[in-house]
Amino acid sequence: MKVCIIGTGYVGLVTGACLAENGNDVWCVDVDHSKIEGLMEGKVSIYEPGLEDMVKRNLSEGRLRFTTDLEEALRPSLFVFIAVGTPPREDGCADLTHVYEVASRVGGLMETAKIIVAKSTIPVGTTAEIRRIIGEKLAERGLRDLDFDVAFCPEFLKEGAAVEDCLRPDRIIIGTEREDTDKLLRELFAPFVMREDRFYTMSIPSAEMTKYASNAMLATRISFMNELSRLCEKVGADVGEVRIGMGTDSRIGSSFLYAGLGYGGSCFPKDVRALIRSASARGVDLAILRAVEEANRAQGRFFLEKITGHFGEDLGGRTFAIWGLSFKPHTDDMREAPSLALAEALLSRGALLRAYDPVAMEKARALLPDDGSVTFCADFYEALEGADALVLVTEWPQFRRPDWDRVKSAMKPAPAVFDGRNQLSPERVRALGFSYYGVGRR
Ligand SMILES: NC(=O)c1ccc[n+]([C@@H]2O[C@H](COP(=O)([O-])OP(=O)(O)OC[C@H]3O[C@@H](n4cnc5c(N)ncnc54)[C@H](O)[C@@H]3O)[C@@H](O)[C@H]2O)c1
Repeated sequence: MKVCIIGTGYVGLVTGACLAENGNDVWCVDVDHSKIEGLMEGKVSIYEPGLEDMVKRNLSEGRLRFTTDLEEALRPSLFVFIAVGTPPREDGCADLTHVYEVASRVGGLMETAKIIVAKSTIPVGTTAEIRRIIGEKLAERGLRDLDFDVAFCPEFLKEGAAVEDCLRPDRIIIGTEREDTDKLLRELFAPFVMREDRFYTMSIPSAEMTKYASNAMLATRISFMNELSRLCEKVGADVGEVRIGMGTDSRIGSSFLYAGLGYGGSCFPKDVRALIRSASARGVDLAILRAVEEANRAQGRFFLEKITGHFGEDLGGRTFAIWGLSFKPHTDDMREAPSLALAEALLSRGALLRAYDPVAMEKARALLPDDGSVTFCADFYEALEGADALVLVTEWPQFRRPDWDRVKSAMKPAPAVFDGRNQLSPERVRALGFSYYGVGRR
């Protein structure tokens, strides 16, 4: 089937590559010329396991093409996916400028019948507005009778496992009012799910709401555990043990119950905020989600207090090794990464940082000060050289079993370890003469 994907970021590029992998002819379009030039040579500017190989393979086999020319990509395509960014506005609402700009351009260019599928995360009512904009543009061009439909299919991929999630999704939600659209979308996505019962067709507002509700629920679970972790410390319980005790209850399940530094990334913070804002615009107070946000902010402060509790408020002359910068492992995405707020707090108290991340250093470099206060290191042992403390920020698997002799010899005597993701063994670390601070554990 012929597909056009507009926006080649995490969602668009992964969707395009996976659709091509399943035998479709895919055009990917972006306004970012340098990104498209790189992609035409098989160079992927984001880190996502398995993605570059898949792009290269489908590019060379001619099923995946890249362009900045929307008209060229639109012309042959029946399906047109909108996967542009919907970043947060200053007031917390989703910024829909790119989505509406795309709708207007599609309406201004299309010549044949199309199924437009919004994949960007958009508030309830946006799909209807996309339809209105396209219809208006067609009417201006005298093409009022040109058939088109606009569906909404929320995207649930996780960065760091995006290719796998896209190829084998738990479910595919199709928001559409039209049976023919539903049938064609099921045909397009059939190779991804194999089983008919993995498709859920629903009204467009329900599909739009499902995406926000899912992210809000996951963020709620994280904030719930983070709040509990603070109580666990006071009463001598271990939040990791509590998680196992709770998570093995089949009504609860074990995902997204890890206490840590708080959630970040390009989705949870912005989607929770946007849902609260769109609800309050309709007179609905989402008090639980307001608390989820506050608990997330408080968790960052709570972790920082462990550091200032150990060293005092003035961190002048102290050096901190930072292990992990991306908002979670297996991605280079630095959007709303907890490492950024933590680095700012440490630097503002006079600390020096020695940072290492397996893939996010380039993106982090652009976001952290360039005044010599942050040194980017070649590996995680180098980051420890002369450090007073190690702060484990992102749970990359390679940080779990370091060579403790190397760690000890690189750091200053009697160092402290602040384990923001409960990855290390407190007993092991303390046995070496280090001070250990985890989250919600003794
Ligand atoms: N990243 C995720 O894990 C994830 C998961 C599910 C849903 N989403 C949602 O999907 C959407 C896209 O997210 P992302 O992380 O892929 O964003 P991104 O910022 O990585 O990519 C967006 C791309 O769209 C391009 N673009 C902007 N305006 C354009 C235009 N007019 N024409 C063509 N291209 C244009 C940008 O240049 C950029 O390459 C957002 O709404 C996001 O909330 C993201």
